[in-house]
Amino acid sequence: MARRYRVSVIPGDGIGPEIAIPVLGVLEALSEALGGFCFEFLCLDAGDEVKRRTGVALPEETFEGVRKSDVCLFIAVGETASEVILPLRQRLDLYANVRPAKTYPNIPQARPGVDLVIVRENTEGLYRRVEDGTEDWGVSIRVITRRASERIARFAFELARREGRRRVTCIHKANVLKSTCGLFRDVCREVAHQYPEVQFDEMYVDACALKLVMNPGAFDVVVTTNLFGDILSDLTAGLVGGLGMAPSGNIGDDFAIFEPVHGSAPDIAGKGIANPSATLLSAKMMLDWLGEARGAEVLEGALMEVLREGRTLTPDLGGSAKTHEMAEEVSRKIKEIAEAV
Ligand code: IPM
Ligand code: MN
Repeated sequence: MARRYRVSVIPGDGIGPEIAIPVLGVLEALSEALGGFCFEFLCLDAGDEVKRRTGVALPEETFEGVRKSDVCLFIAVGETASEVILPLRQRLDLYANVRPAKTYPNIPQARPGVDLVIVRENTEGLYRRVEDGTEDWGVSIRVITRRASERIARFAFELARREGRRRVTCIHKANVLKSTCGLFRDVCREVAHQYPEVQFDEMYVDACALKLVMNPGAFDVVVTTNLFGDILSDLTAGLVGGLGMAPSGNIGDDFAIFEPVHGSAPDIAGKGIANPSATLLSAKMMLDWLGEARGAEVLEGALMEVLREGRTLTPDLGGSAKTHEMAEEVSRKIKEIAEAV
């Protein structure tokens, strides 16, 4: 019996549906080519369009559908993104936002030799949105707890151990934010002691931004608080060719949502030219999380071949292919790889 995965899919708005359909086709091709596992996809509504129709961006049926599935693939939501993805992350306690940045072949403007992972705390910090204000003042409270800091630090070290990565760098601003960043840094130091085989160092967030631009190859695993991770992960996406190449996973103890970092890209929506790579790479992370290491490896390998050959690329990558054409090329490569062994 093939291992069967119930995958909830939120296509969302803008380029979301244009990417979802071709990428699900690639996942079908992958399961056909490799055997051993298969997917049951359940598409669910969320986002701007649903809010216009019903008044809520994340309907309760969608939340329930996601919760009951084995894993979720979230593509892109527009203006209402914060009303959809933030409650999903928080309500499902998906405390680790894992954002790899890796240089793939032939990507315009990508810096060579980048291969790092940002592990962003995903449930607290300024994203708790404890806020108040009037016309004359505003206050946002940054919540940092030992519990959340400890589990994200542990997650980062476990990831380093699992992926054979050598170093974890804690990013903070404890010289100014003593009670929040100070706590986060202290907890990271404590957890580091339990992983003597992984090197540990720390850096202020401003210095980190500079060093990421000047010498990105020096980073391996970066662990940081929610907003710093949000900002730095856009920076690292920029290092490897832009948001079109940036996947992510929102991961908890027993559930996960995989999500390209890009949004709904209204400027190119409807043209069918969005780069499917970020979603394909998010699907690769999903396969790894499901324990389908071979599927993950073949999917990434096929995408790499398509990028290396450079014949079927979307316009942001310097080509003239449509989203579905690039995705179909990835499916063809998957078959070739599967038949070659
Ligand atoms: C991201 C996005 C979200 C965030 C927005 C859409 C709420 O920027 O996933 O990085 O701030 O986390
Ligand atoms: Mn962001």
